[in-house]
Amino acid sequence: MADLIKQANKAKNSSYSPYSKFSVGAAVEMKSGKVYTGCNIENASYGLTICAERVAIFNGISSGDTLIKKIAISCQCNENSTSSNMPCGACLQVIAEFSDGDIDIQIEDVGNFKLSELFPKPFKL
Ligand code: THU
Repeated sequence: MADLIKQANKAKNSSYSPYSKFSVGAAVEMKSGKVYTGCNIENASYGLTICAERVAIFNGISSGDTLIKKIAISCQCNENSTSSNMPCGACLQVIAEFSDGDIDIQIEDVGNFKLSELFPKPFKL
């Protein structure tokens, strides 16, 4: 297992997902070389839930880091899951905000993608 995927997989252990029972972990390697991790954190008021990818990225940005080099994602489906394990559109928009190139997105048990494959036309101001 690639190192970044391993870190995403480990971050998944901290997932707070009592409502969906769908744990997600993410590890983002910044251009600085530093790695930040995150997990999904749910809330009884469902809309307040935040995805693992955004927790990892905001962890990096709030620590003073700036640009993403690559991101790895690990999902824990439940038995009946029909999940595609792909990152949601909101997270792809956030990934695009902090990427200055076509970064790699590695998804455990699914494969490797380029940001442009998954999200070719991000919103920009
Ligand atoms: N989730 C993520 O953490 N990342 C995504 O890209 C998609 C969905 C989480 C949010 C929620 O806690 C659970 O997965 C089910 O939607």
